Amino acid sequence: MTLVSIGLSVSLDGYVAGPHDGPDNPLGDGGSRLFTWWTAGGEPLGDDPRFAPPARSRPVVAELFDCGAVLTGRRTFDIARGWGGQHPTGAPFFVLTHEPPPRWVGPGTGGTAVTGGIHRALEAARRVAGDRPISITSASVAQQCLAAGLVDELNLNLVPVLLGGGVALFGERPGPTALECTRVVESDGVTHLRYRVDRPG
Ligand SMILES: NC(=O)c1ccc[n+]([C@@H]2O[C@H](COP(=O)([O-])OP(=O)(O)OC[C@H]3O[C@@H](n4cnc5c(N)ncnc54)[C@H](OP(=O)(O)O)[C@@H]3O)[C@@H](O)[C@H]2O)c1
Repeated sequence: MTLVSIGLSVSLDGYVAGPHDGPDNPLGDGGSRLFTWWTAGGEPLGDDPRFAPPARSRPVVAELFDCGAVLTGRRTFDIARGWGGQHPTGAPFFVLTHEPPPRWVGPGTGGTAVTGGIHRALEAARRVAGDRPISITSASVAQQCLAAGLVDELNLNLVPVLLGGGVALFGERPGPTALECTRVVESDGVTHLRYRVDRPG
């Protein structure tokens, strides 16, 4: 069965972006601190010099990158300028939206717009992911999938910063959810936490 996993960097007060995020301020006010650890190691992980995590983060990042599909929301997609049509993980990506974007999805790209909601999006992601995990990489999609009982695992990169506002990872959803902590990796400027979601039934 394909594992469905949330993979996000989050501040100690629970935000994935600071206030006033947008294409000109991708992670909001103060939010770039959430990604500092990605480049703190000096040595690139692969060919892309943007990803040079510290030594103790490298196995975790390698694992996060080894996903079979990425599921995200339209705001993340727009802010990232659709990653130019190829997600940094190299995996096919699915963008939940009400209105398909004019570019960076469709033939010749790794992206697909999904207008039919989270169940449709996960169905499509499962078809391409095979045995590899599906990674959910936006707050609103994470909240919807958690609330619908569709998530197996949370992989959070906890960064020691307080943003005081912005895009809350959990907001008011999903309501009470039991979690079991299955891994903690202490690294430089980040603690990698893994939780298994206790799904009823
Ligand atoms: N810290 C991290 O690791 C990390 C990672 C990724 C992103 N981010 C940040 O997170 C922020 C964006 O996250 P977000 O949660 O605000 O937004 P998001 O999930 O990226 O996008 C929300 C939008 O997606 C579309 N959407 C979501 N669910 C849908 C559904 N069921 N059906 C149809 N359309 C749906 C809607 O757009 P439309 O109605 O316009 O179509 C909705 O407004 C940005 O600041 C980004 O930089 C942080």
